Order: sequence, then C-alpha cells, then structure tokens
Amino acid sequence: MLPRDDLLVQRLMRHPVLAGVYERAWRPALGWALLGFDLDHLRHEKELASAALRLAPGQVVLDLACGPGNFTATFAEAVAPAGLAVGVDLSAPMLDRARRDNAHPRAAYLRGDATDLPFPDGSFDAVGCYAALYLIPDPWAAFAELVRVLRPGGRLALMASRSSPHALVRPVQARALGLSGLRMFGPDEFTDRLRAAGFTEVTRELRGVAQYVAGTAPA
Ligand SMILES: C[S@@+](CC[C@H](N)C(=O)[O-])C[C@H]1O[C@@H](n2cnc3c(N)ncnc32)[C@H](O)[C@@H]1O
Repeated sequence: MLPRDDLLVQRLMRHPVLAGVYERAWRPALGWALLGFDLDHLRHEKELASAALRLAPGQVVLDLACGPGNFTATFAEAVAPAGLAVGVDLSAPMLDRARRDNAHPRAAYLRGDATDLPFPDGSFDAVGCYAALYLIPDPWAAFAELVRVLRPGGRLALMASRSSPHALVRPVQARALGLSGLRMFGPDEFTDRLRAAGFTEVTRELRGVAQYVAGTAPA
C-alpha cells in the first residue's frame, strides 16, 4: 500500500493546484533560491542531469520522484528512439500533470513509493532523483532503492539539500526546515554512502544549499 503521511510538504505535493503551477512557477523559484540564485545553472539543470547520468539512445532510465515529469521528458529525449524513461511519483496530481505536460513517446509514468519500488534489482541503466530526497520521510530507504534497481556499471545522479557549513547555523536551519518536513543532508552523506557501496567516479558539486551527487555502480 502507498504511504500517506502528514508532513506539510508531502501534503502540498499531493495538491492539484501545486501540481498545476509546479513546473512553471514553484520549481524555478525554489530551484533558484536553493541554487544560490544561479539562473544560468537552473536553465541548464536538465541537460546537466542527462550528462551526469551519461544517457545514450536505447537506455532505460528511472526518474524517481518525477513530479510533473519536468526532468523525465528531457531524459526520454536523450534515450530515444529506442530507450525508455520511467517517471515514478507518489502524487497522483503530479502524475496527471506529467502525462499532460510532459508526454513523450519514450516516457512512461507510474505511481509508486520511492522506498518500495516495483522493479527487480538491476532494472535500469541509469537512475536519477532530483529535488525529492529531502522531503521523503525515510530518504535512506529511497536511496537504497535507487542503488538496488541500478544495473552493475550504471549511473546514479541526484540533487538534494545540503546543510550549512556554519556550525552555528546548522541547528537553526534544521529546526526551521524540520517544521515543514524538509531535511538537510551533510555534504558527505551521499558520497560516503556511495563509496561504501563500491561506487566509483563519485562526484559532488555544492551550490547554494543544494548538492549534486553522481557515481558509477560497481561492475
Ligand atoms: C519537489 S518535487 C521534485 C520533482 C522533480 N524531480 C524536480 O526536480 O523538479 C518532489 C516530488 O517527490 C514526490 N515524492 C515525495 N515522497 C515520495 C515517495 N515516497 N515516493 C515517490 N515520490 C515521492 C512528490 O510527490 C513530488 O512530486
């Protein structure tokens, strides 16, 4: 059964009004703030994600917590004409928007829980998860699922929050965001886990209060 929790951000993500404005207004505004007001990076974020995932025609890629499919359609274009981009999200209104606004012959959208994916081990050539792990109540279960469904030698890329480098700011930040259900991750939390799982070519880029992490699964 799909979980329904009561965190403020989770409730927002299930709201049809937010789903309707997410791609054109909410995500650009939030992304801009998260990335330290770097408009140029924001403009190229999807192409940079495709490059981090090293997408190529014919591949099968997972876009976990795809929202209205704003990254999925770009991924579908990168793996066309024979590949497939699979967007998974918990929110039915987000998926309705994805099917309407980001339909693509090589994209499929499906409702599912990031912490319990309906795919066998090693199903995907690449797995991406953008702007979502910080609002999932058990992000490490979702992270473990990303790793599980990735094939040996496949690419993983994600964007998540990162806690302030200032020790005095961190508790305030964690408390303020905790009220809304958002979580801040330490700058080494993802990279350490990937390396411990045997990933190679692990990279991390810090921007504003966001981090982009990528790596290659052990062969
Ligand atoms: C901020 S949106 C990110 C959408 C898109 N990836 C992006 O970068 O703009 C976060 C998405 O995570 C989804 N989500 C939250 N918890 C989830 C879960 N347990 N399983 C799958 N999706 C989840 C929400 O429904 C929402 O669509």
